[in-house]
Amino acid sequence: MKGFDTEFLQQLKSKIDIVDVISSYVSLEKKGMNYWACCPFHHEKTPSFSVNSVDQYYHCFGCGASGDAITFVRKMETVDFMDAVKILAERAKIPLPDLNFDSEKTIEQKRKRDAILKILRASARFYLNNLNSGHADAHIDYILSRKLSSSTVRKFGLGASLDFKTLPQYLLDQGFRREDILDSGAVVESDRHAGRLIDAQGGRLIFPIINALDDVVAFGGRVLEKTDFAKYKNTRETSVFNKSKNLYNINLLKKQKKATGLKNIIMVEGYMDTISLYQAGFTNVVASMGTALTKEQARLAKRYADEILISYDGDFAGQKGAIRGLEILRDEGASVRVVSLPEGLDPDDVVKKYGNDGYRKCLDSAMPLTDFKLEVAGRGYDLSKTEERRAYIAEALRIIREEESVSVREDLLKTLRDKTGVTYESLKRDLDNLPAETPPAQDREPVRREDGADRNVKACRFILASVLFGAKYAKNFDLSSVRFDNPVHNTIADYIADRRKREEKVRASDLFEIFDEKTPELSEILDLSLGDNLEGERAARYFSDCVKTLGRQKIEEELKKLSAECDAQTDLAEKKRITRRILELTIQLKNF
Ligand code: UTP
Ligand code: MN
Repeated sequence: MKGFDTEFLQQLKSKIDIVDVISSYVSLEKKGMNYWACCPFHHEKTPSFSVNSVDQYYHCFGCGASGDAITFVRKMETVDFMDAVKILAERAKIPLPDLNFDSEKTIEQKRKRDAILKILRASARFYLNNLNSGHADAHIDYILSRKLSSSTVRKFGLGASLDFKTLPQYLLDQGFRREDILDSGAVVESDRHAGRLIDAQGGRLIFPIINALDDVVAFGGRVLEKTDFAKYKNTRETSVFNKSKNLYNINLLKKQKKATGLKNIIMVEGYMDTISLYQAGFTNVVASMGTALTKEQARLAKRYADEILISYDGDFAGQKGAIRGLEILRDEGASVRVVSLPEGLDPDDVVKKYGNDGYRKCLDSAMPLTDFKLEVAGRGYDLSKTEERRAYIAEALRIIREEESVSVREDLLKTLRDKTGVTYESLKRDLDNLPAETPPAQDREPVRREDGADRNVKACRFILASVLFGAKYAKNFDLSSVRFDNPVHNTIADYIADRRKREEKVRASDLFEIFDEKTPELSEILDLSLGDNLEGERAARYFSDCVKTLGRQKIEEELKKLSAECDAQTDLAEKKRITRRILELTIQLKNF
């Protein structure tokens, strides 16, 4: 499973104790059956993060994060599954399975990955040495013109490519294989001279892109002077670099999170924005490397802080990017605000022009999405002209209507009043009278299911939780007697049935290997396991109520079907038979 065999994972899981693992990151306090702490994955003042030592999982009531020891390490260390397992195995002093057990393919993949990472590291060092070689005057002049200090240059490992041919030769001389060198992306084959290797960044100023594990995974390169070439060039996507899944400066951000924690993250577009803000003391900065923030990048950022401040360029593309990015981040559950910058400037320009304080002011007035949309809309109109003012009000009201909170809408209307001089009352009336726009179906709130359906779902949930956590009253309960409509419930029931069949222990933590940790249905079931929900007389009674509820549901459905059949039936004898059955079921239902 996932690259390691199941037996090894089971052995690992039985050797480690999640309470030990988690308490080496946060201090846990034992209360009742569980351990508690302030959640390391979201900001909070009172503990809602709990660790269950019996079933070996954690769950946060605040943000819904949950998982087993492996999930926890993955998130805390920002590593993937493989690396989390390695960290835990080391901790538990269990040797990793011998590579001989791996297939030839995985051995080759691993060798290739190691080789590529070595090549990229060697290239980064090569570029760095170039910068200090005395032959990089143009690069150094450029760095000085951008006002970067030597300690900043060192911190970000900036380097210089001096020409096209020395890097490939250097790498070959180091004994790296030609095909590995090409696969690293640092070197490409020349278009003009078939077979000749050239430095992909020939002549550029080099920005190494380093991932959260401190591996150099790619390079960004900037031209020193205006040319027809693209201003920046990234090395191509490789097996170790996917631009849409990386954030520039994530390596230093991770160190900072470990050292001092992070209240929020500033998300910028470019390399220079990042470096410039960092140098100005805003060290909690990362770049999406271009305007289009992706879901993966949003998720990555969200692991480091709950609040994200988007600080894209003050131009049109930047603002569009900011709004899009904001929506993506919000969908990932981050709290997001937009830092509005003076027209046409990027964060680097702001720091240069208005200094550290100037940028601080922008940060302090970061706005939520609706306010930002209003601001952007406002820039398009000359409010001193009646016509344009009216058009602006119409657009603004449409934006305000999207806001869900009544009090925020009120606030926004007041701002609009102050900006346009139109009275609050008439703005409010216009807002209320806006013709209805039917939003696309998927944007609308799901219709609330009727109470009966709700009750059934709750019953399924409670029954599953009781069986999963081994409540006494549920010990011999036959799950196959219940029909689970929800696919997650269904899968959990299947898992339990499968374990029971093999006479193995049912463990809640196994479910994290089946489901995404944020699966709401799973979270709801875990919620039930804490406190004394599943214990005592009351729980036992509720359990049998649940079983009845579901039994009743089954009969009710059967009844509905039968009465339709009865109506449609023309054969008299058959009609009688159905009626008798209806009667039987009606009596059963009464006795439930
Ligand atoms: P910008 O064009 O906003 O550049 O691109 P910048 O960061 O302000 O650059 P300077 O200040 O002129 O040096 C923002 C980011 O978009 C990506 C780079 O990651 C860049 O930092 N980009 C831009 C490219 O990948 N290729 C390009 O040609 C331009
Ligand atoms: Mn710039």
